[in-house]
Amino acid sequence: MQSTLETILNHRSIRKFKNTPLTSEQIDTIIDAAQHASTSSYMMAYTIIGITDPAKKEELSRISTQPYVKQNGHLLVFCADLYKPISKASEEEYVKMLPNLENSEHFLVSSIDAALAAQNAALAAESLGLGICFLGSLRNNMGRVDELLHLPKHVIPLFGMAIGVPDHQPEIKPRLPKEAVYFENEYRHPQNEIDAFDEKISAYYQSRSSNQRKDTWSDQMRRRFLKPIRMDVTDTVQQKGFNKR
Ligand SMILES: Cc1cc2nc3c(=O)[nH]c(=O)nc-3n(C[C@H](O)[C@H](O)[C@H](O)COP(=O)(O)O)c2cc1C
Repeated sequence: MQSTLETILNHRSIRKFKNTPLTSEQIDTIIDAAQHASTSSYMMAYTIIGITDPAKKEELSRISTQPYVKQNGHLLVFCADLYKPISKASEEEYVKMLPNLENSEHFLVSSIDAALAAQNAALAAESLGLGICFLGSLRNNMGRVDELLHLPKHVIPLFGMAIGVPDHQPEIKPRLPKEAVYFENEYRHPQNEIDAFDEKISAYYQSRSSNQRKDTWSDQMRRRFLKPIRMDVTDTVQQKGFNKR
């Protein structure tokens, strides 16, 4: 087995999997690892839904527009879940707690809890020699995913994770230089580092073995923020009782 650090530093998203289902032991280990992540105020404000129904996998794949959402060893959907922590509240308490429950703080708490659990799951899977890809693309139709998984009020789907035996070995993707990410004592505008990174990533995109293109990180990000994306998410999230105030 690789050391934890080797596993972390070897990460690359896998988008093509062999047709090998995960064993129940592998799934148990991955979920156990997810559950051992730190959790805000012991809230454990998340739920993980494994998709075993081929029809649901098919529909999630259509929503995400990505084929590996149905062709993988297992598919997980990570949800922010404020329902479980309050499930034993009386009607009177529920009414009293709503402004607090539905504020941005608890939207963040539950989303952070789910993300930490997911990263633990990813590392566990990678430690077992499997590959993973996170799937924010499920939010292409968050309302339909919510319906499909029968999520109660105060539970929302955040992202998926495809897991399986890798059927390709993409290069490790470069990251911003440490000097653009880690500052001491105060924020510093890392413009020189971003310029240097743009040159580096441009060379990476032109020389990598598949999906070559001419692009820089800053151009990619500019395009991303100029084109509105998933503008319905705010409404869906608020209808489910998150981030309302
Ligand atoms: C929350 C989250 C959602 C993501 N959603 C998708 C997705 O929908 N489709 C996809 O192909 N990759 C997705 N990714 C993977 C990122 O594109 C990938 O991590 C990033 O480009 C860095 O590449 P690497 O993971 O290979 O290092 C997602 C990653 C995260 C953390």
